[in-house]
Amino acid sequence: MNIVIIGASGYSGAELAKLVATHPHFQLVGCYVSAGSADLHKPLSALYPEHKGIVDLPLQGMDENAIANIAAQADAVCLCTDHKVSVELAPQFLAHGLKVFDLSGGFRLADAHLYEEFYGFAHQHPELLAQAVYGLAEWHSEALKSAQLVAVAGCYPTASLNALKPLQQAGLLAGDQQVIINAVSGVTGAGRKAAIGTHFCEVSLAPYGLFNHRHTPEIEQSLQHPVLFTPHLGNFKRGILATIYATLNAGVTLDDVSSAYQVLADEPLIRLLGANQVASIKGIENQPYVDIGWHVKGQQLIVSAAIDNLLKGASGQALQCMNLNAGLAINTGLV
Ligand SMILES: NC(=O)c1ccc[n+]([C@@H]2O[C@H](COP(=O)([O-])OP(=O)(O)OC[C@H]3O[C@@H](n4cnc5c(N)ncnc54)[C@H](OP(=O)(O)O)[C@@H]3O)[C@@H](O)[C@H]2O)c1
Repeated sequence: MNIVIIGASGYSGAELAKLVATHPHFQLVGCYVSAGSADLHKPLSALYPEHKGIVDLPLQGMDENAIANIAAQADAVCLCTDHKVSVELAPQFLAHGLKVFDLSGGFRLADAHLYEEFYGFAHQHPELLAQAVYGLAEWHSEALKSAQLVAVAGCYPTASLNALKPLQQAGLLAGDQQVIINAVSGVTGAGRKAAIGTHFCEVSLAPYGLFNHRHTPEIEQSLQHPVLFTPHLGNFKRGILATIYATLNAGVTLDDVSSAYQVLADEPLIRLLGANQVASIKGIENQPYVDIGWHVKGQQLIVSAAIDNLLKGASGQALQCMNLNAGLAINTGLV
């Protein structure tokens, strides 16, 4: 596949550019930013010196000719852009027959009405929501093989859902009890643009998005179980640690929980740390994996799950989806 990345100068776009450029079967043929970007025409490696010799392509602008130019040279585009930008761009690329891998939340929710409440805009292309395949790679591998539009799963949902879906699927979670997810993200989760809330001197450790974070409906839609999700911003660059509290059905044992996780045992990018183990940021920084550990006391369960938000939480998982779509092994170019 020849691939173009839109939003290539951002944190997830730059990470994905490197993954595609070093992939054994994909070619990176273009890197784009907004038409008025301050970084226009700069090589990506001028912004990210670690990309020198790997991605030296110049950043091109999304001007009026860009869609036609991209359609002429690419088989697929990766949208590493804001939700609203992705919703505007995706249909234009789909109309040219390109595959679209969108890293934003623009196509993740099935119910268009939720966009006003959780994303702050009315969805302009609700007809595409039913067509979009949810890119939680390990759980939708069949549908991803033939997808034209992929809504790559969000970062917190990726950690939370891989930790909870095995238990939900095995019927171990008490149906009348909300699952509580407390998760901390590094500051790259907020993107590259400077803002006071993500300024080095301002960031400490604090919750945000209480009761109304957009990943709550995304997690509930996929899990089919109510959750109380509270994200936190931590003073480190990359990684997400989710600590998850749930009530198990009466009689469920630690062995039952461990057995339920075996559904993921053969997944090369999921590391089951096991019973009485904890996941950590240190374990997954710059790694494409989800790490999962679990503890049980009576009916109480605590699961910890960790990912690198820019890899498994964004570009790594996008590459997994692209691999599946191209008929390749899910971990090609990642391990
Ligand atoms: N960061 C994460 O950990 C993470 C994880 C999962 C999902 N995501 C999602 O991935 C998307 C990108 O996130 P990010 O953190 O990488 O953002 P970011 O660092 O802020 O980068 C955004 C990119 O989009 C470009 N851009 C802005 N407006 C554009 C337009 N109209 N047309 C083309 N390009 C445009 C920006 O460049 P210019 O402004 O210079 O044009 C920049 O390259 C978001 O939807 C985010 O929610 C991020």
